[in-house]
Amino acid sequence: MVKVSPSILAADFANLERDVDMIRQTGADYVHVDVMDGLFVPNITIGIPVVAALSRVSRLPLDVHLMIDRPVRYVGEFVKAGASIVTAHLEADTPENIRRALETIRSLGGRAGLSLKPGTPAQAAFPFLELCDLVLVMTVEPGFGGQKFRGDMMPKLETISREVARRGLPAEVEVDGGVSLDTCETCVAHGADILVAGSAFFKAKDRTAFTRTLQACGKPQPLSQD
Ligand code: DX5
Ligand code: ZN
Repeated sequence: MVKVSPSILAADFANLERDVDMIRQTGADYVHVDVMDGLFVPNITIGIPVVAALSRVSRLPLDVHLMIDRPVRYVGEFVKAGASIVTAHLEADTPENIRRALETIRSLGGRAGLSLKPGTPAQAAFPFLELCDLVLVMTVEPGFGGQKFRGDMMPKLETISREVARRGLPAEVEVDGGVSLDTCETCVAHGADILVAGSAFFKAKDRTAFTRTLQACGKPQPLSQD
């Protein structure tokens, strides 16, 4: 089954405890937390104290997506704050420091993720795959929710997911940006294991049905009775 990670970027920030509980009640698998520093991306969201507070109230694992410069400086603190998955951007530092960041996350008991902006080719992730529990393929430019899904990222998604399988690695492949009922099937058809959804999840009239539909992506449709 596909896993679903609703992004609280589209939540009511004055009611995060209520909204993470609502996310759990829909049957989702993770809570996706977008951390932005105003440097790596032109937006600022939330940081370590909020992740720590969320980890005290969330019954789902926190899937923390760091859109910050030189993430090696802070990954350890995010794991200690209670993040289950900590994902750093490949473009945010030197290869040596990215390697150190991924190793630090794992050494502290977290799951290490590596994220690629749309302009970064799949092959750039290859030297790091053994260090990854998750590879996050962005289908929008990171920084803001509510952007249009980039279908041109599907070949990259497929290249990464095939390489992970070819090497027999356990890493899961996650897609983030513009994921909706209209775009989920193509993501899964190209190898996505985890789907992040922000605006489409929060706008859905029936969020439980939305979550279930995404989780069932790629499964054959039941035959109609008539
Ligand atoms: C964008 C963030 C996404 C964002 C997705 O930089 O990484 O996680 O919340 O929002 P939607 O689903 O609205 O594109
Ligand atoms: Zn994200």
